[in-house]
Order: sequence, then structure tokens, then C-alpha cells
Amino acid sequence: MEIENSLKYLPQELIRKKRDGGILNDSEIAFIVSGMCDNTFTDAQLGAFAMAVILKGMNMDERVSLTTHMKNSGEVLDWSDLNLNGPIVDKHSTGGVGDKVSLMLAPIVAACGAYVPMISGRGLGHTGGTLDKLESIPGYNAVPSGTLFRETVKNVGCAIIGQTKQLAPADQRFYSIRDVTATIESVGMITASILSKKLAAGLDALVMDVKTGNGAFCSTHEMANEVAQSIADVATGAGVPTRCLITDMNQVLGHSVGNAVEVVECIDFLTNPTQADSRLLKLTLDLAANMIQISGLEKDYDSAYVKVKEALNSGRAAEKFGQMVSALGGPVDLIENPAKHLTPTPIIKEITAKRAGYISAMDVREIGLSMVSLKAGRTKSTDDIDHSIGLSKIVQIGQFVNIGDPLAIAHVKRSNDLTMLSHKISDSITISDNWKDNDLIYKVLSSTLK
Ligand code: URA
Repeated sequence: MEIENSLKYLPQELIRKKRDGGILNDSEIAFIVSGMCDNTFTDAQLGAFAMAVILKGMNMDERVSLTTHMKNSGEVLDWSDLNLNGPIVDKHSTGGVGDKVSLMLAPIVAACGAYVPMISGRGLGHTGGTLDKLESIPGYNAVPSGTLFRETVKNVGCAIIGQTKQLAPADQRFYSIRDVTATIESVGMITASILSKKLAAGLDALVMDVKTGNGAFCSTHEMANEVAQSIADVATGAGVPTRCLITDMNQVLGHSVGNAVEVVECIDFLTNPTQADSRLLKLTLDLAANMIQISGLEKDYDSAYVKVKEALNSGRAAEKFGQMVSALGGPVDLIENPAKHLTPTPIIKEITAKRAGYISAMDVREIGLSMVSLKAGRTKSTDDIDHSIGLSKIVQIGQFVNIGDPLAIAHVKRSNDLTMLSHKISDSITISDNWKDNDLIYKVLSSTLK
């Protein structure tokens, strides 16, 4: 059977077909995906194939085939034997700086009666990763056994863990090749890459946060729109109702960037929501309400919004977060006593404004990269990171500052790092006499497929 499959097509002929603008059929795409897993396609051939797709694109049928075969290249989770009494729903973000939403969203949605088996990534490049944030919590096991993962989802309602080698292995190899061959930016391949992993989690519904702006990989609205529509269409076509929100990434989300500092902000948010940053609060509640509505727990958006707000304000979401952390090996009293568990850096110092005026713009990518240069993020997936490094109390666009007012608080280990970070942050935050805010949520879209 294997020999028959390997003789079916020649890799170079399929690459040539795509290079010349041809449409690959389902069987040809199945062959390419099996070649990602069994190495019948070399790295060079997969790189060439990815470049051909970048140049010639993929139609909707090709995207559905690529997504489906990459999803089926590994384990596809099945929750049916657990007899859960609510829908299984997840959210995925295309990545940003300070994007800590998942840590609050999963427990909020779980507190409303849905189940959230969230499989998240580590940070790469200038964007942060949900897993890295959670791994600042001592003992938190982001790669638990399948049994513990399922038990946590069943008993708590949510579990945020990392991708295992068994989940969409074709994408794991293909993505790492795309990453080093300048072939990430293809709507078809992005759709298949994201959805193969998400659909392998066995979801009933999905909400996507597609970020756009100077801190996002979709830097233009046009690209974000294209990615969002493609994801909504392919996922819905694959039987998972999906809604996409296109949201702003022209400023840090919330007031912190890093890992432990973001966990602290999340705990403050869950335990004291009236003091939460208004953009972070609005986006989290909006995504949560969309998850509750699309998964059928509430008929309309307004009642879903009331439900998620109550889950947060009552403290039930905070409780869920605490239960998830302790079920996955973290401290039982993290919510009550975060300072006991999240070790501070030896230097915690303000970075101050050099002129008075309104905060009018942020170079979010540069802020993310400044974190990477201090090892709060990584450039290669194998890099170790320092969870304690970060920025807190970052100003927001529209805020007025006087000379000497704080722009942010740096959490670093050495005075040289403080000097470097102060320069980078001052250069990345523009202070002017006027300012104009960006919308937080530009658009909400669903599949156009009938
Ligand atoms: N995130 C993914 O998982 N895959 C892509 O191709 C782009 C972003």
C-alpha cells in the first residue's frame, strides 16, 4: 500500500503543476500531505511547493483538502464518550503583543457552561504565546497526559495546553519549513495551518480573533479580511460553525507584555474586573459572548453578553481559572496569593516620558521585539525564555502624559537591560499634541457559504 502510494505521483510534477498555476485535486493534495509526514517530500521540495502556493494561490476546494488532510495526519480528539452536558468551543488568535485574552476567556466561557479544550502555541517572533505565559506559573504542566487533559476539561470546563506531536504533525513539519522559506503569508496555507490544528481538537464551534495592525502578521485590513473570510468558509464547510472578529493590534493589548507580568494582569482582571483595562475587557467579553452564541448556549448576542459578564463579575470565572491551574499542577492558591508564586525581577523601574502630550501611536512590533531581545520571547522554537522579564503599566493611546510620567514599568535583571529597554520603549511610543483612536473591533464576519 505504501509503495503504491509513493509511486502515485512524483513530488516534482505536483510542484510543477502548482508552479504553472494548475489546480491540485484532493488525491494530489493527500499525497503531498502524506509526504510531509513520511518524508517522501524533502524539505527542499516542501519549500518549493510552499513558494509555488505563495505565487499561484489555492482555491477553496484546495484549501479544504489541505486543511482536512493536515488535520487527519494525526490524532483527532473525540469527546463523545465523556457525555459532556455543553458544547465544545474554542477561540484562536492570529497573535499579538500583550494578547493574554485566552487566560481569561477560557474560564469565563467554562463558567457559562461550555467546554474549552484550548490547544495553544508558544510565542515566536515578536508575538507572545499563551503557553509561555502559563508556564510562568510554577508547576503548571502545559503538556499533560491525554487523560489529565480530558479530566480537566470535564471537571473544570477548560484546560489550556500545548500542541502535542500527535496533533496535525503534517502542519508541524510544513510550518517549520514555511517559517524559514518566506512562505508564511499565503491565505490558503495560513487557513489550513490554523484550522488543521483547531479542527483536530474536535470542536463544535470556533471563534477566531484575526488581528490587524503594526503588531500583527496581517498588517493590512485587506489581508486580515481575506484570512478571516477564508477561515470562516473553510471551517464552516468542514462542519464547524466559525465566526471571525477582525481586531486592532496597533497598540499593546492591556497594560503588560511578557509572561509572569501578563499572568498577574489576568489574575487582577478576573478578581477585580471593574479595574480592568477597558479594551482588554471589551475584547474578552465580546469574544466570549460570540463563543456562547455560536455554540448555541444563548440565542442572541445580547443575552450571551449578559451571561459572560455575570460569569466574570460573580467571581465564577476566577474560580475556574484557579481550578484549571491547580488541576494542571500549579499552586492551589495562585489567585489569592500571586506574589508568592510569580518571582519578581531584581530591577523594577519606571520608563518615563521625555515630553508632555497624548500617546498617539505605538510601534507594537518593536515593543514585542524588545521583549525577545531580553529573552521574554524567542526567535527559534527551541530557545529558552525568561518568564520574569516584562513590561507592566504600559500607557494606552489617548492617554495624556507630562514629562517624567511613566510610560511603562520595566521588569529586568540587569541595569544594561534597563537602559536598552528604556531607549526602545521611548522610541516605540509616540507622544503628540493630538491623537486619534483606532477601533478595537473592525468587523465580525461569518461564512458566506450557504
Ligand atoms: N499561525 C499558524 O498556526 N499558522 C500559520 O500559517 C500562520 C499563523
